[in-house]
Amino acid sequence: MDCFMFLLAFLTTCAGFKVSAPAGRVVAVRGQPAILGCEFTPDSTSDLSALVVTWQRVEDSRVVHSFYYQQDQLDLQSPDYRNRTSLFMSELRKGNATLRIEPVGLRDRGEYLCTVSNNKGTDKAQVQLEYGAFYTEPRLSVNVSSSNVTLLYESEGFPKPEVRWFGEHGEVLSDHTELKADAAGADGAMGLYYLKSSYVSLSSSLNVTFTLKNQLLNQDLLRPVSITYGN
Ligand SMILES: *[C@@H]1O[C@H](CO)[C@@H](O)[C@H](O)[C@H]1NC(C)=O
Ligand SMILES: *[C@@H]1O[C@H](CO)[C@@H](O)[C@H](O)[C@H]1NC(C)=O
Ligand SMILES: *[C@@H]1O[C@H](CO)[C@@H](O)[C@H](O)[C@H]1NC(C)=O
Ligand SMILES: *[C@@H]1O[C@H](CO)[C@@H](O)[C@H](O)[C@H]1NC(C)=O
Ligand SMILES: *[C@@H]1O[C@H](CO)[C@@H](O)[C@H](O)[C@H]1NC(C)=O
Repeated sequence: MDCFMFLLAFLTTCAGFKVSAPAGRVVAVRGQPAILGCEFTPDSTSDLSALVVTWQRVEDSRVVHSFYYQQDQLDLQSPDYRNRTSLFMSELRKGNATLRIEPVGLRDRGEYLCTVSNNKGTDKAQVQLEYGAFYTEPRLSVNVSSSNVTLLYESEGFPKPEVRWFGEHGEVLSDHTELKADAAGADGAMGLYYLKSSYVSLSSSLNVTFTLKNQLLNQDLLRPVSITYGN
């Protein structure tokens, strides 16, 4: 609507300005910087004096990062983002207001709004940030008792994975799987679940496969175990 009103008065100006988020959804991975893309039509002079960039959370309008008067303006930045955000200065001139957040955590999940103004106009675009952590290489322990053998795999990652144990012929085995938030917080607040998955076999020879799928990150682990013990 704003743009339409503006359009009547300054047809070329408004029609020429656009802000876009090339990836509407970004998956941030624990241990890597999150890159939230935002592009705009640069001033023809490549001059930054009129440029205003504001990154905000959509849910509560918290300021994530802002830039004007040709520099970062962090007085109004939410303390939640302090020392974790930056723009790519050399890219601003080219119409690139991409934001980097590092380190990234579970609390950063949500919707981000990139608002840009310069001499050509004002516009905004939205990016959704998801968060995940690759599950670590599962650690196997084997516990043999007089009546059975227990295989236990442990691993950490985020979000909840899909865990299955398969038998030699591809049949699904019944397992016991627990998922705990890490010690520091409830419900994976620190962005890691601790996984413990066990399978008990009464047979003295077993050949099974443990599988773990983290759908968000397209992570697929498949670990075959084959054990023969006793007589
Ligand atoms: C941000 O960095 C400054 C300077 O390195 C430091 O004094 C300040 O404590 C940091 N703030 C937070 C919230 O980590
Ligand atoms: C914007 O800058 C980021 C960070 O340097 C880069 O990864 C991205 O490719 C740039 N986008 C464009 C359209 O150049
Ligand atoms: C093996 O199983 C026994 C009996 O359930 C248990 O007491 C013991 O702690 C287990 N050992 C390991 C290494 O898991
Ligand atoms: C496996 O053996 C342990 C130790 O003897 C026993 O406590 C447990 O109940 C057994 N589990 C099954 C499923 O038989
Ligand atoms: C275990 O089962 C797979 C098929 O699921 C088979 O290819 C493999 O040879 C078996 N291993 C042993 C030691 O029997």
